[in-house]
Amino acid sequence: MRRLGVNVDHVATLRQARQARYPDPLAAALLAERAGAAQITVHIRGDRRHIQDHDLYRMRQTVQTLLNVEAATTPEMAAILLDVRPHRVTLVAERPGEVTTEGGLDVAGQRQEVTRFAARMQDAGIHVALFVDPITEQVQASAIPGVDMVELNTAKWSETGNAHELARLAAAAMEARDFGLQVAAGHGLTLHNLRAVVEAAPDIEEYNIGHALIGDAVFLGLEASVRRYLELLR
Ligand code: PXP
Repeated sequence: MRRLGVNVDHVATLRQARQARYPDPLAAALLAERAGAAQITVHIRGDRRHIQDHDLYRMRQTVQTLLNVEAATTPEMAAILLDVRPHRVTLVAERPGEVTTEGGLDVAGQRQEVTRFAARMQDAGIHVALFVDPITEQVQASAIPGVDMVELNTAKWSETGNAHELARLAAAAMEARDFGLQVAAGHGLTLHNLRAVVEAAPDIEEYNIGHALIGDAVFLGLEASVRRYLELLR
């Protein structure tokens, strides 16, 4: 059984649109867990457009499964992560003003910086994953002491539905496993494009899904939406 990480950022997006106290991403996290999510994922952005610092502290105290925080490798984020101490941090590339994460982290180009950041996290007992594009250069570069997982960027597959992109994901997942890394995947996955990845890439053991799952929850309810995604992972 592959694990489902539910990304609840977009519940916070809705809250922030009104600068209100609701809907609460923590409430969404607890419902997602009740429906079978194995992990709650949140992205704390430099601009705080959705998840706020207090969300991290409240989730760290209350989430029953695992808390996976996506963050950029900035000094500000290092300080927050070392204080919150989530179970896992997923290091991502972040460009100010981008609508969503636009690409994987350039681990090959910033290996020293990523290595130093990962070591600080690992010393604090935080597991480290790197969000990378499914290409050999980046997967190989991710075999860094202190890093135990790569999360493969599925955006190209989601955007194009191209079989070539699916093959790249499957190959990158196998390669990462050969390097001793656990393999997650995410970005742009939906009820329509998830099954193909699950079938093509058996080495992927965890999926982090947000936008589509929360969008489906508007119509289905959150627990039913989570269950629909879980059915595809079985
Ligand atoms: N994984 C990572 C590293 C991400 O940055 C995101 C988006 O925040 C996701 C997974 C989830 O992507 P989506 O919201 O498109 O499902």
